[in-house]
This record gives sequence, structure tokens and C-alpha cells, in this order.
Amino acid sequence: MKKRKFFKKIGLSVAAAVLLSPFMPTLDKSGFTAEKAEAAVTFPDLKDFKAEIEYLTGLEIIRGYPDGTFRPAASITRLDAVRMILREMKIEDPAASDPGFSDMDSSREGYAEVAKAVEIGFINGKTTKDGERIFDPKGKLTRAEMAKILTEAYALDANNNVKFVDVSTGHWANAYISRLATAKVTDGFPGGYFKPESSLERQHFAVFMARLLNPAKFQAGPVVIPPPPEPPKYPAPSTNTPGKYAGGLLVVNKVYALPSTYNPGIIPVAQKGVDAMVSAAKANGVYLSVISSYRSYSYQKTLYENYVKRDGQAAADRYSARPGHSEHQSGLAFDFGGTNQNHWLESSFADTAEGRWLAANAHKYGFILRYPKGKESITGYMFEPWHFRYVGSGEAPKIKASGKTLEEYLNVRGN
Ligand code: DAL
Ligand code: ZN
Repeated sequence: MKKRKFFKKIGLSVAAAVLLSPFMPTLDKSGFTAEKAEAAVTFPDLKDFKAEIEYLTGLEIIRGYPDGTFRPAASITRLDAVRMILREMKIEDPAASDPGFSDMDSSREGYAEVAKAVEIGFINGKTTKDGERIFDPKGKLTRAEMAKILTEAYALDANNNVKFVDVSTGHWANAYISRLATAKVTDGFPGGYFKPESSLERQHFAVFMARLLNPAKFQAGPVVIPPPPEPPKYPAPSTNTPGKYAGGLLVVNKVYALPSTYNPGIIPVAQKGVDAMVSAAKANGVYLSVISSYRSYSYQKTLYENYVKRDGQAAADRYSARPGHSEHQSGLAFDFGGTNQNHWLESSFADTAEGRWLAANAHKYGFILRYPKGKESITGYMFEPWHFRYVGSGEAPKIKASGKTLEEYLNVRGN
């Protein structure tokens, strides 16, 4: 009956096309929005989630656009979402009292449905900057907003505190999103993302609905947050350097020296470790500077002699190595500073963001804190929270975990 009337209205050629294509829904030229045309069996523009979308089509919850498409990746409008939920709730007569939105007078398309949704309580309006209450029927819903709507419309109360990498516990929709995931209605995007601020695609809304209505068939899997990538391996430095070795590691300290002729410059593997570490710190908002790296025998000699002149030998020996005895001559030692130069080469560096970051992370890049606090009797030097020695990422985490100085770990003398 309905169809016959429709054929008359639009003419035979279009009617024939409708008959020939099983995918074409009834045409409707009047609607500005989707979800007005009559139910289609399926849509020609589906790629993913065909089963879910067809399931909802069968229930007449999903309809498409008047041109027969579903436009799966298009953002769902606020009015479309309301219409789909009301259809699912089988609310045929959506009469309700005026919700009082200034952009939805009773002649506007969708007025009755919006009024009903507000009355049921699963959607609210918005307040503009001027304090006006509007509904914004053509506005796009974010995924966070949709989580709220669906959890409220379907009373999804169970909450297993499911985490997504991009939804902080302080996010206004965190509980709604977690409840949606607890109900296995969403598992987010690969990598453990939910993308709360993205607008919701029509196909994803359909998937959410299908999972809600038929969990046995469509339920989502668990949210999988992949472990952080393994840091790359930083190889142990070469053992060709002259000097004392223990456990495959070069030892340079007050007892074991390097020849005065040994001038390697910065060892390239160690420089790679520094570069990776500086970039990783930067990505965490921590800005490291290299204050000192390779020092030649003769440069260390000048430094040490100046310190002795300034502070006397006993004092200088607590913080400066004698020529040949500095790890800096090995090309494997680096002194780091942070943004505030007042803390450079001071024990207070330990309490800066940069000092703390280094203490917590340097081992991942092959470095150890060489002169820890309270170990002067073993290392021969005062606490230097800025001085890191490259040993490679095989040994560095083990040495850190041992809580020992390099001398203790390798069982060699240092003083
Ligand atoms: N400050 C360290 C101990 C050095 O001079 O090598
Ligand atoms: Zn140093």
C-alpha cells in the first residue's frame, strides 16, 4: 500500500531502479538527515561490521540515507542517535512535553523524538555561551558523549574500571566509557585507545547497539593495552680499550688508570645511548643537556690541578679524578644537567625533574649512576647524581637492580 503510493509520487523509472536493486531502500527526498528512509536489507557501501549493521537493519533500528547508502564512516548526528535508540526502545509515539530548546520548535524535524529522549532521560541539550539551551540536532556526538548516552539509556551499571590509554581517570566520561567496556560493548581501537573526543562514526554506533542487544553474538573482546615497546639494545662497549677489565667491563677509578696516550674521543655506541636517552626524556617533557663527556688526559690534568689550587688536594680528590683516572677519558662517561643551571654539578640535581628522570630511566639506555650517595668509601668520590657511565643495556639494568656500585658489582677495588 505504502509502496504503491510512493511509485506514483516519484515516477516509474526510479521505481524500476528500486525494484531492480535489492539494496535500494525507499527513496525519500524530503529528509535532511539519515535514518528517515525506510529499512534496507543491506547497503552497498559497507566494508566492516556488515553483520552488525545488517542485524540492526533487520530489527529496523538502522535505516540509511534516501540514496540507499549507509555512509558508515560518517559521523552520527545527535538526532540520528536519538532516532535509533527510540526505534530500539520501540517508542512509536514519541509525544512528550516541550523540552524548551531554542533551536527545536515544534515544527522542526525531530522535535517529537528529541522531546521524548529528554523525557526518558538519556540525552540532554547543550548550553551555548550566551546561556541559551539548544539541542543541536545536526551536531556530531563524540564517542565520550555516546558512552554516557548508552550507559544511561541501557542502565549499564557494572564497572570493572576498564582502562584505555587515552582516557585518564579524571576524564568526565571515564566511568561511562569503562561501563561501556565492562558490558563488552566497546573494546576501543587497536593499541588500547578509545578516542573519547572523536566524533562517533555511524558504523561504530551500529556496532555498539548490536553488541548491546545481542551480546552472545556480537560482544566485544577485552580491551588490550599493548606493553610498551622494548627499549632497543645498546651493546656493551668494546673491550679493546687498554686498562683493567672485570666481567667484560672497563674499570677506571682511583686504583685503575688509563694510559696517558689513550685518546678515543666519545665512544660511538655510548653516544647513541645518550641520543636515545635525551630524546626519550624530551618526549617525557624532561630536557637534558650533556655538560661534559670525553676528556683527554691533558684536559683532566689541567682540571684537577686547578681544583687542587682552589680547594686543596684532599678536597679536590673527593670530586675530581687525577689524570689517567677519570672515566671521562674512556669516552664512556657523561655529566648531565637540566634546565636550571643552578643545579648543574651540584648534589641538588638529584631532586630536579631531570635528575630524577635519569635515576629512574638511564639504565634502559645502557647507563649507570656511577657515584651514588653514601658510597664514597667504595667509589672514592662524593655523590654525583649527574655522572653516568655507559656499560650497555645488558648490564646496566642488572647493576641498577643490584643496588651496588660498579666496584661492588664487579668485585674490584675502587679506593
Ligand atoms: N668527577 C669525576 C669523578 C671525574 O673527575 O672523573
Ligand atoms: Zn663526570
